[in-house]
Amino acid sequence: MITIAVANQKGGVGKTTSAVNLATAFAAIGWRTLLVDLDPQGNASTGLGIEREDRVKSSYDLLVDGIPIDDCIVRTQIPDLDLLPATVDLSGAEIELVEMHDRTGRLRAGLAEAHHDICFVDCPPSLGLLTLNALTAADRLLVPLQCEFYALEGLSQLLITVEQVQQRFNPELAIVGIALTMYDRRNRLTDQVSDDVRNVLGKLVFEAVVPRNVRLSEAPSHGLPAIVYDHNCTGSRAYMDLARELIGRLPEKRKAA
Ligand SMILES: Nc1ncnc2c1ncn2[C@@H]1O[C@H](COP(=O)(O)OP(=O)(O)O)[C@@H](O)[C@H]1O
Ligand SMILES: [Mg+2]
Repeated sequence: MITIAVANQKGGVGKTTSAVNLATAFAAIGWRTLLVDLDPQGNASTGLGIEREDRVKSSYDLLVDGIPIDDCIVRTQIPDLDLLPATVDLSGAEIELVEMHDRTGRLRAGLAEAHHDICFVDCPPSLGLLTLNALTAADRLLVPLQCEFYALEGLSQLLITVEQVQQRFNPELAIVGIALTMYDRRNRLTDQVSDDVRNVLGKLVFEAVVPRNVRLSEAPSHGLPAIVYDHNCTGSRAYMDLARELIGRLPEKRKAA
């Protein structure tokens, strides 16, 4: 299984929207896909229509109590897409983990038992122990970056964290790409930001850009990924392009899956 952490310590940049729709795009082409909700807010779980009463076991149980992954995941309405849901308990995990053995390696240990081709981890908006668990478990990091004035601020902190994780816990971790989100072509500032980001980060930035699109923000209230809710809207098409580009950037042996 290849594991991709979707992380950025800023909130509201499109992590969850990206994780849900990329996971759906991979499932749609037949990859056995796992989405891990690692945000106590549980937006990825809600966005896939998994109600709180259906979250019998969760990412908290896997991380803190070491419950096997097969006992924690639920099937979604999307064929080939399983979810490790999040509950509010997870907000306590950040503190409970501090005292625990192998506190950054617990997600990796849990995911080692999974039987999927690909796994996306939707991270919370912080660089705490939950995100460190995601980065330690991940082969690749995907960073959604909102096209706004402060986009690049905070990125340096994230890159420092990546280096620390590489040195201490996970030498294999690499950044697979930066995805520009909420792009608004009518707004000249977004254009400017996207040019700046490409100048600074070059090929690390995906060609595919996710536009600001109301269908993307409506879909979660229907408990569906946008790609299923309206597969033809500009946002869904952008995520399918992004998924295609992502496949091209995955390590060679995995592409055969
Ligand atoms: N491209 C987009 N166009 C319009 N709304 C978006 C887009 N991407 C995300 N949103 C909305 O913006 C809010 C924040 O996005 P979300 O994916 O939850 O970010 P994060 O997980 O980084 O906090 C959500 O309400 C989401 O529906
Ligand atoms: Mg989120």
